Amino acid sequence: MCGIVGFIGPRDAAPYLIEGLRRLEYRGYDSAGIATLEDGELRITKAAGRLDNLVQLLAESPSPGHTGIGHTRWATHGPANDVNAHPHLGRGNAVAVVHNGVIENFRNLKSRLEAEGCQFRSATDTEVIAHLVATCLDEQLSLASAKLDESDGEDGWIEPEYRPLVAAVQQAVAQLQGTYGLAVVFRDYPEVIIAARLGSPLVVGVGDDAHIIASDASPLAGHTEQIVYLADHQIALVTADSLRVIDRDQGRIQHQVNVLDLPPDAASLDGFPHYMLKEIFEQPETIRNAMRGRLSLDEATAVFGGLNLTPQQLRSVNRILLTACGTSWHAALVGEYIIEEIAQIPVEVEYASELRYRNPPLESNTLLFAITQSGETADTLAALREMKRKGHPTLAICNVVGSSIAQAADGGIYLHAGPEIGVASTKAFTSQCTVMAMLALYFGRMRNVGFEAGLKIIENLQKLPELVTRALETNDVCRQLAGKYCHCTNFLYLGRQFNFPTALEGALKLKEISYIHAEGYPAAEMKHGPIALVDEHTPTVIIIPQGAVYDKVMSNLEEIKARGGPVIAIVCEGDTRVADVADDVIEVPHIDDFLQPILSIIPLQLLAYHIAVLRGCDVDKPRNLAKSVTVE
Ligand code: G6P
Repeated sequence: MCGIVGFIGPRDAAPYLIEGLRRLEYRGYDSAGIATLEDGELRITKAAGRLDNLVQLLAESPSPGHTGIGHTRWATHGPANDVNAHPHLGRGNAVAVVHNGVIENFRNLKSRLEAEGCQFRSATDTEVIAHLVATCLDEQLSLASAKLDESDGEDGWIEPEYRPLVAAVQQAVAQLQGTYGLAVVFRDYPEVIIAARLGSPLVVGVGDDAHIIASDASPLAGHTEQIVYLADHQIALVTADSLRVIDRDQGRIQHQVNVLDLPPDAASLDGFPHYMLKEIFEQPETIRNAMRGRLSLDEATAVFGGLNLTPQQLRSVNRILLTACGTSWHAALVGEYIIEEIAQIPVEVEYASELRYRNPPLESNTLLFAITQSGETADTLAALREMKRKGHPTLAICNVVGSSIAQAADGGIYLHAGPEIGVASTKAFTSQCTVMAMLALYFGRMRNVGFEAGLKIIENLQKLPELVTRALETNDVCRQLAGKYCHCTNFLYLGRQFNFPTALEGALKLKEISYIHAEGYPAAEMKHGPIALVDEHTPTVIIIPQGAVYDKVMSNLEEIKARGGPVIAIVCEGDTRVADVADDVIEVPHIDDFLQPILSIIPLQLLAYHIAVLRGCDVDKPRNLAKSVTVE
């Protein structure tokens, strides 16, 4: 969703802001803008639509200044137009603000501020913050004694001239209900940016002579390897050569500087036409990275360094609750099948958006895993916090290091899949499924899985990268089939057991990026409704690998053919029986049932990709979608 970037240093800010906003484009947005400061002038440029519109405006009328903030907006309050784009100015044009998140009490605040004489220009909730900060700043400046608290003031930690600015932001955010990651610049203080967060991520990159503020680490890559992750209720006072962090409750805090492990070319396309295709082809490597150093042949188990729970605590778990959204929820469903099968622990999967407001009866030894690529999904974060509040241990399975969910969980497992930029998640899904299988092994070896069986699971896991490479060879056939089927307007996706979630994920991929209606169903359940949709114009993609339910799914396939529906079957290499009946087959390698989803999903990702390309869709930035859904 929205993206924030800020730059302060000895060079012009605008090029850094535009480059940073480009790297944040993947989050999804519909307008963009920047504010820069020079010679007492606060200059704002903003434009609806793609970033190129803003770049065009800046080419005609540059925005000089060594301090600036920028934003890509994904509309929540008010349509996507120039006026509603950020940054927003506060009363007297003394401050400009960019903001991610949602201010729930903005209507009340707006009425009050309007009564006090503030004139609103936009329909956004953000403009309330700008007017609030400006109003609080007036107040703070008029209090000659304005300062943070005694200790901050006395040791000169914050220069006297900046204390009213910090105090104004503190006073303003204290009145906000909802979530915010925000950055503020002040017309009369061009050497300062103030950032604050509650529930919406912000990081600060520490350079040699400059600082970069951003809503995720991607704008920092290539500029600095030192990163500070702000936590909720923290406020950062940033100048070119200093960073000070204040906690709402604890006052001054010593922030931790971490090393950013993000290669400068992390966001390059590497010769691929789209990030989605690049990420699909990265999967042999990303799966290898998910397993690296985590499989012990000596103990025939998986090893995780960051769970932060003792083996005794984990052994006493008698129920696992998996919560997630979107594609990560599908990975959770795969996990349910694998963990129950291998480790024999009851598993439940809940949409995070449902779990956060539910009150399910949970045994005390229930362990929660939040599964999330971005680590920022608002519902997943809220569900994790709710379970934590109830006293359950909470772990995250997450890709983005230092993200909000990674910070909020008691511990967790990073995917190490590298940045996923295509909005439609691909490599994160297969890494999540791989981690699920390793977790099943880990819990299984604590309970019922013997040494030999553990080794066999490891052997299967280790085959994955090579078999995924082979599954990627289906690219050509997927492209051909895309040509044959891209004009259809409805698709059914069917799979059973471990591959029921694969069917859901295949359908989601297609609808997300090609806007074709697609429904995923358990293959046998088809008889209870979806079969009514079957006709010669509605293709069914059926996942039918060799395995326990092969014959059963075969019967479902026959039932569709009997009703004249075209069938594209995902089969194991060498399967001739299905080929005799289905219209088209795509062959993937065979592996034990529990890992088959990781191979079967590959052609479904490719099929969706090629269909979307042929239909002229913007594959990496599908309409209305956002990569990181930071609102409810
Ligand atoms: C959005 C994205 C999906 C993603 C889902 C959950 O809807 O477009 O690709 O699966 O959020 O995101 P998460 O980062 O929590 O896995």
